[in-house]
Amino acid sequence: MFEDQAAGLRSAGQQRPVRTIAITGGKGGVGKTSVSVNLGVALSKMGERVCLLDADMSMANVDVLLGLRAPFNLSHVLDGTHGLKEVMIEGPGGLKIIPGSSGVRRMANLSSVENAGLIQAFSELADDIDVLLIDTAAGISDSVLSFCRAAMEVLVVVCDEPASITDAYALIKVLNREYGVSKVRIVANMAQSPSHATALFDKIASVCERFLDVQVSYAGPVPFDPSLRVAIQQQTAVVLSKPFSPSGKAFSLLAREVMRWPVPMGPSGYLQFFVERLVQSGIR
Ligand SMILES: Nc1ncnc2c1ncn2[C@@H]1O[C@H](COP(=O)(O)OP(=O)(O)OP(=O)(O)O)[C@@H](O)[C@H]1O
Ligand SMILES: [Mg+2]
Repeated sequence: MFEDQAAGLRSAGQQRPVRTIAITGGKGGVGKTSVSVNLGVALSKMGERVCLLDADMSMANVDVLLGLRAPFNLSHVLDGTHGLKEVMIEGPGGLKIIPGSSGVRRMANLSSVENAGLIQAFSELADDIDVLLIDTAAGISDSVLSFCRAAMEVLVVVCDEPASITDAYALIKVLNREYGVSKVRIVANMAQSPSHATALFDKIASVCERFLDVQVSYAGPVPFDPSLRVAIQQQTAVVLSKPFSPSGKAFSLLAREVMRWPVPMGPSGYLQFFVERLVQSGIR
């Protein structure tokens, strides 16, 4: 039904919703970029037009992971020298990537002209994409929190290690108490089995329910899978190189699950709204 409405709006040339999903996790190395890239490619394979904003300024960013060269980044959009479509690079399986780079840090102190420019740049993109994924950095910096607050959905990647669980909880707590986020979804990554994955989800959900006012849903498991590491070494996505591997199948299921999440049809579902929320708060 939502898809029908969206298609109707698309053909009528009107503004229509774009799913904005922040992929986060608190702890480093839990699989945020792997989930972002493979979910993005899996959604592309389903016919969705997907853009991945690489909002991590560290070394291991999306373009490096995929062996892509990014001559321009979000900084050039803020300078007004390039449009978003010009800085975008083509990733595997038709995935579009916006290299954030130093532009992400600069979003802290935008002038009103830059603010307006960024909102304009994203609203031009709205007609060309169905889903915007945001791969966030590790930790709970204001940048990470602001992207999560601005997005429609927050996907928290967790694995079954004490540090991952406590960091994910700390992140959800700040998002809920200080940033007004009222719902998050959990991906149990590097899971030994589906039952281990649901047990991990239950553990996090029960602590959140007890101490926070946040709705925590289960997005699904991604098994520990050596094929995923091999794909990364080959600088590709496992959903392309080994679609029927355990993780390849899990990412396809996750993509189908994502498409079942409801999308607000009003202005809060528009891409412009995401950028306005992002720049309003200011990223530090
Ligand atoms: N399901 C999995 N099975 C096997 N290996 C995995 C899985 N998920 C992630 N990895 C491996 O874990 C490592 C870290 O993954 P990734 O870079 O996606 O994490 P990250 O959370 O984005 O890290 P960072 O915090 O540095 O950005 C990579 O080498 C990746 O291949
Ligand atoms: Mg990463």
